[in-house]
Amino acid sequence: MASLTVRRLDDAIRDELRLRAARNGRSVEDEVRVILREASLGRSLSAAAPAAAPSSVRTPASTRSHVTLIIGGGIAAYKALDLIRRLKERYIHVRCVLTKAAQQFVTQLAVSALSHERVYTDLFDPESEFDAGHIRLAREADLIVVAPATADLMAKMAQGHADDLASAVLLASDRPILLAPAMNPLMWDNAATRRNVAQLARDGIVMIGPNAGEMAEVNEAGVGRMAEPMEIAEAAERLLRPPQPHPLAGKRVLITAGPTHEPIDPVRYIANRSSGKQGFAIAVAAQAAGADVTLISGPVDLGDPPGVTVKRVESARDMLRQVEATLPVDIAIFAAAVADWRVGNEGEQKLKKTVQGMPPLQLVENPDLLATISKLDTAKRPKLVIGFAAETEHLIENAKAKFARKGCDWIVANDVSPTGGVMGGDRNTVHLLARQDGEITVDSWPVMTKEQVAVELVTRIGRAVERAP
Ligand SMILES: Cc1cc2nc3c(=O)[nH]c(=O)nc-3n(C[C@H](O)[C@H](O)[C@H](O)COP(=O)(O)O)c2cc1C
Repeated sequence: MASLTVRRLDDAIRDELRLRAARNGRSVEDEVRVILREASLGRSLSAAAPAAAPSSVRTPASTRSHVTLIIGGGIAAYKALDLIRRLKERYIHVRCVLTKAAQQFVTQLAVSALSHERVYTDLFDPESEFDAGHIRLAREADLIVVAPATADLMAKMAQGHADDLASAVLLASDRPILLAPAMNPLMWDNAATRRNVAQLARDGIVMIGPNAGEMAEVNEAGVGRMAEPMEIAEAAERLLRPPQPHPLAGKRVLITAGPTHEPIDPVRYIANRSSGKQGFAIAVAAQAAGADVTLISGPVDLGDPPGVTVKRVESARDMLRQVEATLPVDIAIFAAAVADWRVGNEGEQKLKKTVQGMPPLQLVENPDLLATISKLDTAKRPKLVIGFAAETEHLIENAKAKFARKGCDWIVANDVSPTGGVMGGDRNTVHLLARQDGEITVDSWPVMTKEQVAVELVTRIGRAVERAP
């Protein structure tokens, strides 16, 4: 049954599910069972999600955040219309509550047209209260934003009133609350407002603004203008999506990617089908995790990832030279598909057809980058050396043999047989080989996008770095 369910899910949820399963070391079916079990015990899906390890780098959120926006009855209510747009362009789902006074300033029609949702105004509305709608407005949100927050609403909050929908939602909520106060400077300066503001701050409520500036009233200026919609949206986003930790901050990471081209003569070369996508994705993820990343890439059709130092090379020997020139680094990841052989008798001029038949190409072995760097003296060797094993048969067996031969710390094994579409494709199914107590461990991940593989690998590197002395 679980596999049927998985097949019907949309791509984003399916990817999220697979990533979760990989993180928890479970099969997708087992992960679905855990979610169902926890849901039946009354825990929400997000509560059942494993707490990301402190060092983890998360994939971009595929689920949208939910904000309940309470619009108070002040002149600045018109700016709340722009705020709805600013939140929505950040992929935040917005549901609005209008106080009675707010309806004097903006219409329900405008608010619902912008939020694409029905608007809530009445605590005693039988249509929404049949299932305690005010509690749902409080609990189903990840964040409650009050903009404008009137002096009156703040006074009610500070005192714990709940005699209308807005104040009842605020009192019934255990979610973070962001207030954007807006009022006349004398109202803001009033001792009662000062007391209420201090009380709300003690209650853990976050405020943005008010700013100084012109008031709506003629010839009035001072502190009391509501923060601009953009500022409020940014503050909301910070509360919803706190900045990610940077587990690789201060670490130098070297990554190789792509194929190599081994010249036959000035116009011909031996190549392979590597696209470089996996190595580039790892560079992006490592950079996002705070690392100082150098990406050494063979010829590929990919642009330089922002914030990454990219060195472009052609042959395996060029790649090794650039790798050695980049040392010392803390972590080296060899994702490039380096040609095992090159032409020993490379033609100085374009080789010609002759009556004697085909030119006798002699293949000689290329330097082994992974083994060379893995076997460096401790002083020069990166603390963590990770190789990739691309195999078309007996994947795990061959990867284990490669692991034993090369002297690296981890191997990421992937099946590159043509039927899998890994070479040049966007997805990858990998197995992470490591050593524990002298034994080789194999951790098989479900099929993921190359970006997800990159994020997962970097997350694991972050944890290893954290544990390392
Ligand atoms: C034209 C006009 C503008 C107002 N502007 C504000 C304001 O900017 N800030 C404020 O706190 N109250 C303002 N008020 C007073 C509120 O509308 C009033 O306190 C109301 O009860 C607030 O209700 P609410 O907090 O339920 O939205 C204004 C009133 C009027 C008539």
